[in-house]
Amino acid sequence: MKNLLITALLFISASLWAQSVTSPSGRIQVDFHLSDEGNPSYSVLFDNKEVIKPSPMGFRLKQGIDLTYGFKIIETKTRSVSETWEPVWGEVKEITDNHNELRIHLQQYASDSKMDIVFRVFDDGVGFRYEFEPNQKLAYFQVTDEATSFCLTGDHKAFWIPGNDDSNEYYYSTTKISGIDTRLCDGKGIGTHKIIDKHCIQSPVMLKTDDNIYINIFEAALSDYPAMLLDVNVNNYTLKAHLAGSATDVKAFMQTPCKTPWRTILISDNAADILASKTILNLNEPCKIENTDFIKPQKMVGVWWEMHVPNKSSWNYADKFNIKLADTDWTTLTPNGRHGANTANVKRYIDFAAENGIDGVLVEGWNVGWEDWAGNWKEEVFDFVTPYPDFNVEELSSYAKSKGVNLIMHHETSASATNYERRLDSAIGFMKKHGYNSVKTGYVGWIIPRGETHDGQWMVQHYERVIKKMAENGIMIDEHESVRPTGQHRTYPNLMACEAARGNEYNAWSIGNPPEHETILPFTRLMGGPMDYTPGIFKIKMANYQAGNTCQVHSTIAKQLALYVTMYSPLQMAADLPENYNLYKDAFQFIKDVAVDWDTTKIIEAEPGDYITIARKAKGTENWFIGAITDENKRTVEFYLDFLDPDKTYLATIYADGKDADWITNPESYSISTKKVTSGSKLKIKLAAGGGCAVSIYPIK
Ligand code: NOJ
Ligand code: CA
Repeated sequence: MKNLLITALLFISASLWAQSVTSPSGRIQVDFHLSDEGNPSYSVLFDNKEVIKPSPMGFRLKQGIDLTYGFKIIETKTRSVSETWEPVWGEVKEITDNHNELRIHLQQYASDSKMDIVFRVFDDGVGFRYEFEPNQKLAYFQVTDEATSFCLTGDHKAFWIPGNDDSNEYYYSTTKISGIDTRLCDGKGIGTHKIIDKHCIQSPVMLKTDDNIYINIFEAALSDYPAMLLDVNVNNYTLKAHLAGSATDVKAFMQTPCKTPWRTILISDNAADILASKTILNLNEPCKIENTDFIKPQKMVGVWWEMHVPNKSSWNYADKFNIKLADTDWTTLTPNGRHGANTANVKRYIDFAAENGIDGVLVEGWNVGWEDWAGNWKEEVFDFVTPYPDFNVEELSSYAKSKGVNLIMHHETSASATNYERRLDSAIGFMKKHGYNSVKTGYVGWIIPRGETHDGQWMVQHYERVIKKMAENGIMIDEHESVRPTGQHRTYPNLMACEAARGNEYNAWSIGNPPEHETILPFTRLMGGPMDYTPGIFKIKMANYQAGNTCQVHSTIAKQLALYVTMYSPLQMAADLPENYNLYKDAFQFIKDVAVDWDTTKIIEAEPGDYITIARKAKGTENWFIGAITDENKRTVEFYLDFLDPDKTYLATIYADGKDADWITNPESYSISTKKVTSGSKLKIKLAAGGGCAVSIYPIK
């Protein structure tokens, strides 16, 4: 930790009813208010203009205590922090945490409860949370409702998905706040589709005001507490915390001392600042893993897409239904002839990875239990240690090792978290024995313990237990169908990526993701951390696998390349099949070259729902990579390369949409060109409808 500067400034006693705290630049101001009845509230100004009107705070508890009124201020404190820290991996090498803090000690005399509210104000946003001291009247308490609200100043444009505490796998709707109605959302392809209320949406929500102020409402450092969804009042434009559900009428079981997650409001008049914000990371705790040497950003291929595309492979070894894990002799089952995770096929992927400098091979469907894994709400589906008869784990792990490739473990739990917890030690033992150092987990289906939800407190604790246990064992993790991340990869950087959104796979078997989807995800789901989006699909149309199939990736090939830059993750999959990459080796070169860890990131231009252009410098090198994507509209991007070193000349390789490219009619058309560039050069590139472009820039020695 460098330049740590903490100044305890003020100790003010009793009876203060309002106090302000501003960001270091002064552009953002938070006012805390306590009404005559003792109701706490806050408001936020940006450039002296209100963006959040006075908004309620507090909780309602099961034991009849109402922590929304009747408070008195005991004391307030302020302090300022200015420090820099280095993430283990990330979009930038160094992060600055520069904020002013206001802490208010409150006491509710009627119940003899104490509660602190802490605000941290950064130049691009605000975080606030509630903290409860130990040894007070409320040693244990049960939250049924959090009153925290965000009273907006108008009918802003909103980018939202429905509030479902079991899934984030939706594409975005863009409406005015007054037009939010989750019944309009298509649920096709989502096993856990459940609309909580027509006016309940997921956080983060991205907003844009009529006078072009961008506001992002989310949370940071979610731990031992339910995720925050938002109830929308479409008449007065108020969003209110809606805690994800549990098996009881209590949303959060608390024991003091404890803290809630931070509620975050990012604000800027430039959309690019929202993407560049590090406030959510800054609100998370520093790294708790002592030795992080085992954590390595990487690229992977996988026996994976071939199970998602039509007519190709299966996870299951046999076509049989109604199997009991404990009673089945898997060697006696009749193989279906389509099992993807067979030894020969896995070797083919290992060879492809080795030939192309790809670090890892994910193998799904290697273990017994996939015959009736989904949809039965079944407790004992997988044991995570028994390979199918045609998957020779010893042979494959030594083959992978001989080729310098890592096998990546897959633990689909089918949402039976109880079963996974019981078997976690032996599952990790199996991984260590066979040399696996990373795992992709999955939670498809309704949660067991039955009644709990993917985003509720019990599951939030479960994911945390698994992340910590993997960290203790030197294992990196990629979670699918988990709660969406809230920046805790700062604390546990072995959490490389999550899905927790609608990934590329939807394009293989549903109406898919509209071309604007990838221009919204960085403003929403990715605010909390990297996504395993699985880009890089080159064979765009599923008719390629099955005559008459109309599913397709809603993108051109050049846009698939650009996603490696615009959709940041330290774990990136080259998701298509080796044989498809071999058809387009020149385009695949970009995937081989692109980095997964960065020194510098420049958001060149961005507008949610429309376009994103980002340049990044690969960690420890002078090599730059640029990705530009557009929605369903054509677009010409034009920008200076003024971020390059002025003393160097570089070779730029431009992977652009072909002249006739179009995501529907001609998605596989691209053109590759090279040119010498310097920091004074300007690039002007045409993006097709649903298209994009990727550029690699290497210094010429
Ligand atoms: C859903 C995941 O998102 C996908 O990547 C995986 O292949 C399947 N579940 C099976 O676990
Ligand atoms: Ca999924």
